Amino acid sequence: MALTTGAAPFVESARSDGELYIRQPYELYSEENHEAWRRLYARMLPRWERYANDHFRRGVTSLCLDPRSIPKLDDVNCFLRPLTGFQAKAVSGYIPAFLFFDCLRNREFPTTITIRRLDALDYLPEPDIFHDVAGHVPMHTDRAFAETLVRFGECAHTAAEIVAGIRDEETRLHTLTSIIKAMARFFWFTIEFGLMRSPEGLRVYGSGLLSSFGEIEHSLNSAEVQRYPIELEWAINQAFEINHYQPLLFIVDSFDHLFKLVGELEQWMKQGKLSHVAPGEPAVNERDLQSFLRITT
Ligand SMILES: [Fe+2]
Repeated sequence: MALTTGAAPFVESARSDGELYIRQPYELYSEENHEAWRRLYARMLPRWERYANDHFRRGVTSLCLDPRSIPKLDDVNCFLRPLTGFQAKAVSGYIPAFLFFDCLRNREFPTTITIRRLDALDYLPEPDIFHDVAGHVPMHTDRAFAETLVRFGECAHTAAEIVAGIRDEETRLHTLTSIIKAMARFFWFTIEFGLMRSPEGLRVYGSGLLSSFGEIEHSLNSAEVQRYPIELEWAINQAFEINHYQPLLFIVDSFDHLFKLVGELEQWMKQGKLSHVAPGEPAVNERDLQSFLRITT
């Protein structure tokens, strides 16, 4: 009865009961689970010092994450909430797109509670608590970044309103699929894999990079990675694959810059520019679509 990714009966039974939001049954973490956290944290720390942006490093300090054991979300939230109002909210796994963005709007971050296997620290079949709490949550201590996430959440409501006004069902589904794809791409190339300028050169702010021992270094040092100033029209039309290091990364100037881009994304959505983005990954599934169609805004 541990909380290991792919082998956590507590989480699996919540999923099969359809429970998205759960508690963190801290007593179920095994010694092996804590050891996985210890090793992940210890090997990441020097890489954060070299490659992570300042906001993130300050966030790690202000959350008082314990390098020796998996954090209790309640403790993390005690430090986080007074800073930006954000809190980590335990979930059983995948959250359909609208609900995910709506959580952000309410300053809640859906957070996985399982941790990867100790004998496969570099293999991540799905997000785990190290990715979510050590990779994402420190960013939520930064006010400008937190406001950007809230704006993302508001964009999802705008999308739901737009598609609710489309009478023809086929057009409605096509438009919604395209808008979700555009939002997912933008989120991927910024919140998950973004790079940011700093006086010392490029630094990482995307959580997919901040939680990956191998890719954080690769993202800044490999000659094979293409790094370009972000352009909204490019990011929303650019497909990506999740099963290898990212070959293309986008750079923002600051979180104020990112905040403005999310506002622009919403404007483009209203103008119809997101209604026919280029085909390709990521796939939009039925649960994502239904999550937008079921709400009344
Ligand atoms: Fe993530």
